[in-house]
Amino acid sequence: MRSLVIKRQLDTDDVAAVHELLAIAERADGHRAVDEHRWLDMAQGGRESFAGLVAWQDGHDHPVAYAQVSRGHHSWALDLVVDPHHRAESASIGPEMLRAALRVIATEGGGHVHLWVYRPTPTHDQIAAEVGLRRGRDLYQMRRPLPLEGPPPSLAVRPFRPGLDDESWLEVNNRAFESHPEQGGWDLQTLAQHLREPWFDPAGFLLHERKGRLAGFCWTKVHADHDPPMGELYVVAVDPDFQGKGLGRELVIVGLHWLHRERHLPWAMLYVDAANRRAVAIYEDLGFEVNHTDRAYVGDVDPA
Ligand SMILES: CC(C)(COP(=O)(O)OP(=O)(O)OC[C@H]1O[C@@H](n2cnc3c(N)ncnc32)[C@H](O)[C@@H]1OP(=O)(O)O)[C@@H](O)C(=O)NCCC(=O)NCCS
Repeated sequence: MRSLVIKRQLDTDDVAAVHELLAIAERADGHRAVDEHRWLDMAQGGRESFAGLVAWQDGHDHPVAYAQVSRGHHSWALDLVVDPHHRAESASIGPEMLRAALRVIATEGGGHVHLWVYRPTPTHDQIAAEVGLRRGRDLYQMRRPLPLEGPPPSLAVRPFRPGLDDESWLEVNNRAFESHPEQGGWDLQTLAQHLREPWFDPAGFLLHERKGRLAGFCWTKVHADHDPPMGELYVVAVDPDFQGKGLGRELVIVGLHWLHRERHLPWAMLYVDAANRRAVAIYEDLGFEVNHTDRAYVGDVDPA
């Protein structure tokens, strides 16, 4: 017998149990099962978290699966993880969890849905198809070794100042990512939540000003516990008023030099939408190669 508990807010015990499940899955799969941002959001009860679905099974003192519904800017995000020891039952647990999650979305008015899957397999295609979701966005994880060849960049940047740069940064970010489902539409609370995270380091959040205003930024993130340690270009953007002038490329170069010079990292990594041709072209030109692809299955849910 399986039972499914659906909660708007996870309590401390749920968070611990799901955290353990995520850790087991990560050890088995070699990558996270649920996006870090969306998981922290759920665990901390933040803006985008909406519902956590925890599946229990008789005879097991741990959850066998977890699904999460998050409300994004223009759409809903769905995450699903099945305990590695219960993967043989994925074909039934998966659709069961997803149907329940889609019902939650339907009762909340429905809308466009992304189910995020890391390193998708044919099983994922099958599970998604079974609940009426189709293949949608592909996200590349790209990597390159450091250092970057060539002289250090001359572009002037300075670190982000929490409390002082919040509003101007939000404006540039939201203008640059206008139609982006996750990175667009941030508010002070979304930003504050990121600034509170243990990995946050203003020294690696680099801003470039032009004509007396913020023109673009390169926000880096250090994954010191990764083997090998990696520096991520976490968010890079140029205000639309300054795009197409070579600034994006310069900011990427600045970030790469910073990660190597200041944090001595041997690798750089980033995530980018496969459809973002302009950004992908910059990264490829600077020697990044696709390490793997993550996928969003998409669909539209009618209101219940
Ligand atoms: C991606 C982004 C950072 C690039 O910054 P930018 O300053 O506009 O880019 P650049 O001027 O440095 O242009 C870089 C290259 O893209 C090319 N390019 C410009 N417009 C393009 C377009 N519409 N399609 C394809 N390539 C394009 C340029 O020709 C240039 O190539 P070149 O150096 O061979 O001439 C910026 O467009 C942006 O903020 N976009 C929205 C946010 C985003 O997508 N961030 C990246 C997420 S990972």
